[in-house]
Amino acid sequence: MCGIVGYIGKADAASVLINGLRRLEYRGYDSAGLAVLDDGQIVVAKAPGKVAKLNDRAHADWTPERFRRVTTGIAHTRWATHGPPTEVNAHPHLDQAGDIALVHNGIIENYRAVRARLESKGHHFYSETDTEVLAHLIGDCNKGDLFQAVCDALHQVEGTFGIAVLSAHEPDKIITARRGSPIVIGIGEGETIIASDASAILAHTQRVIYLDDNDIAVIKADSVDIRDLNNIPVTREIAELGFDAAAAEKGGFDHFMLKEIHEQPDSLGNAIRGRIDHNLGSSVLAGMGTSPRELAEISRVVLLGCGTSLHAGLVGEYAFEDLADIHAEVQQAAEFRYRNPILGNRDLVVAISQSGETADTLAAVREANQKGAFVMSLCNVVGSTIARETGRGVYLHAGPEISVASTKAFTCQVAVLLMMALKLGRGRRYSREDGIKLAREIESIPELVAKVILQNDRIAKIAADYTQNEHAFFIGRGPMYPVALEGALKLKEISYVHAEGYHAAELKHGPIALLEQGTPVIAIACDVPGKDKTLGNIEECRARGARILGIVTEGDHETAECMDDFITIPRCHPLVATIPAVVALQLFAYHVARLRGCEIDQPRNLAKSVTVE
Ligand code: G6P
Repeated sequence: MCGIVGYIGKADAASVLINGLRRLEYRGYDSAGLAVLDDGQIVVAKAPGKVAKLNDRAHADWTPERFRRVTTGIAHTRWATHGPPTEVNAHPHLDQAGDIALVHNGIIENYRAVRARLESKGHHFYSETDTEVLAHLIGDCNKGDLFQAVCDALHQVEGTFGIAVLSAHEPDKIITARRGSPIVIGIGEGETIIASDASAILAHTQRVIYLDDNDIAVIKADSVDIRDLNNIPVTREIAELGFDAAAAEKGGFDHFMLKEIHEQPDSLGNAIRGRIDHNLGSSVLAGMGTSPRELAEISRVVLLGCGTSLHAGLVGEYAFEDLADIHAEVQQAAEFRYRNPILGNRDLVVAISQSGETADTLAAVREANQKGAFVMSLCNVVGSTIARETGRGVYLHAGPEISVASTKAFTCQVAVLLMMALKLGRGRRYSREDGIKLAREIESIPELVAKVILQNDRIAKIAADYTQNEHAFFIGRGPMYPVALEGALKLKEISYVHAEGYHAAELKHGPIALLEQGTPVIAIACDVPGKDKTLGNIEECRARGARILGIVTEGDHETAECMDDFITIPRCHPLVATIPAVVALQLFAYHVARLRGCEIDQPRNLAKSVTVE
């Protein structure tokens, strides 16, 4: 949520910053801005809308000489929290004297009180943002030492922040700090770049340092000095990124989402490879860091997540119960710490998060840790806060996911959850023979998904008949119920069609009242237990005029005949089938959105990484 970049070095800083913002645009894209140091002065450019608008504005307002001269600056792409996405609310914000510029990701919770105090001292504010208040506070604390001023200001604020600060009086440095919002520092040759995530850094260097909460760093072109907020030096290791700039490009596809859907055979291969034990019919997930005894003692699994990750958790719930006979439950991460979660040391809590930065999931992890549960994570972004705070867990290895709507992360989450459930199951009720069969099926997931992707053109044709509807229902049973939820979420996120996912049986308890002639009902009717009952529910919908698009199993002609349109998935284990089924729905949503002319990779109002509650 909100993207920050800062650069100090030898290159044209404004261009580096704008290119960095483009990489971070998925984090927020309602306005953007940058501040550079030119000839001892801070110069700011801002524009409402996307980074491209900021680029136009900067090139219109600034001379080419300025672009060539300037080697230090900070920049921001915004997802509005306080105040609408106007130019005046866009970051960077300046202090009262106009000598200090600040970009900020997060929320300053006590900004009203601080603002009132500063106003009584004569400060004047232009924007509605909490960030401008922090900029003024830093200015107010500044007695000639920017680092100390930032420390003093941060001691006075409550809430979350990832910040970068620039001062006209100390042009050789940028100060950066974090609490709750990520900051990565890239260490180049004679240049240092900071960003909210590594995708903005990888064009410059593979060597990065992840800041921890309450770290504050002085960044210079050739040095990084990290301290805590009490000015005590801390040591943070340098990590290697391990993926290059090409991984964050569209690679010939029209949209990142389409590219990421097509990448799934590879990303799933990466998530599964080396993690299957064919001999034992189990999985090898070293990151779980659990002894067989600890595994045997687990009496409950609690899965936490938000959005798409929550839906992956719902599939996991079925998997843990089916394969391991363990009571499993999914909880919305946002709600978790506000109820009274009953947890003990025999409860395994699995936090699921693509980004590893989602504020609600992180807060839930902290609650679970505090209550003494056995906590692990399932993250995609290596080194992310949730991955680090849980200490143990399994990385997805899905590669960078840029499109706001999650696709490959979801399927990798489900694949890893299946492997976890298999591992727990083998220590309990699941026989070696059954384990070997399922392990083989899990290993074949990339192939199953590739077969669905081969139907891309056919799915595009089917989607063309569903572009005029403003409402749609997705139904499924058993593990296909979360697939229905995820299919509906994908469609609404990117095409703005009002779509609802329901358990197939639940439709008749209310939502069926909304069916009219031609209302689309997308039924996940693969040949898995419960299919016949779903077919009954389909007939109930058809009797009310619904148009039925079925996801059916290859060769199940009888079921296909019940549908107005159908997409097939290969025959496989019911839990495994959730993955190809969801891929079919991803492609369907993509094509409906494309044909409706929507902005697929950056849907309105959304952000990929939600670092506010
Ligand atoms: C945002 C994104 C969703 C994502 C959710 C959870 O809402 O738009 O695509 O599923 O956050 O994100 P996480 O990174 O925790 O999986």
